[in-house]
Amino acid sequence: MLTGQIPASMEGSPSSGALESLRIKQLEEQASALRNSVICAFNQLLDLKDLNTGVHSTRLAEWGMRVGQELGLEEAELQNLEVAALLHDIGKVGVPDSILRKPGRLDPDEYALMKKHSEYGWAVLRMLPGFERAALDILHHHESFDGKGYPAGLQAAEIPVVSRIVCVIDAFDAMVSSRPYRKGLPYEEAVRRLNEASGTQFDPDVVRSFLSFAQAEMSTVFAAAGTSVSSAL
Ligand SMILES: [Fe+2]
Repeated sequence: MLTGQIPASMEGSPSSGALESLRIKQLEEQASALRNSVICAFNQLLDLKDLNTGVHSTRLAEWGMRVGQELGLEEAELQNLEVAALLHDIGKVGVPDSILRKPGRLDPDEYALMKKHSEYGWAVLRMLPGFERAALDILHHHESFDGKGYPAGLQAAEIPVVSRIVCVIDAFDAMVSSRPYRKGLPYEEAVRRLNEASGTQFDPDVVRSFLSFAQAEMSTVFAAAGTSVSSAL
């Protein structure tokens, strides 16, 4: 049977329906496995460039999903959120190491190049079927709620909600994480800065949602950072 049509004698029979749903299930599983493989491959690319730690990206994805669920995102948006949280900085593979690893402040030209990473990430991911939406979310993960971010200067609801979520949790994670050249901020100071920029840089609803559970998460964060919550608090 080259056409794939069901013979008339089998139409409506339970076995044909069961076969059809089995086939659909198999295709869905294949699509899901392929999607996960792509995410893992890109994650490994980030590791090769030393732009990632397993803890960092997993933590961001977990936090993002909690905020997304609390804000009532639909299942498809949550899936994009997971990808965007894991791969938001994939475009940094296109930024020179001399800039990525510079311990001091970037000069204006270096900063302009660094800012390109969100466009680079979008340019790569949008070519993958099923990742087009997450690519757009990644493109806008450095927009600012007041319109002063990049690359498009979008503001408030113009910024995709997934991008607004990634922006907050990535900023918080960067603040509390230690780097070779600087120690992470104490939890209270990071919270103070998040609140201070709520409504200007950050979406206030996202900040509120994140802070509603953030403190309970901090023991794992500070354990990973090599400090203790009690000393940080
Ligand atoms: Fe980024």
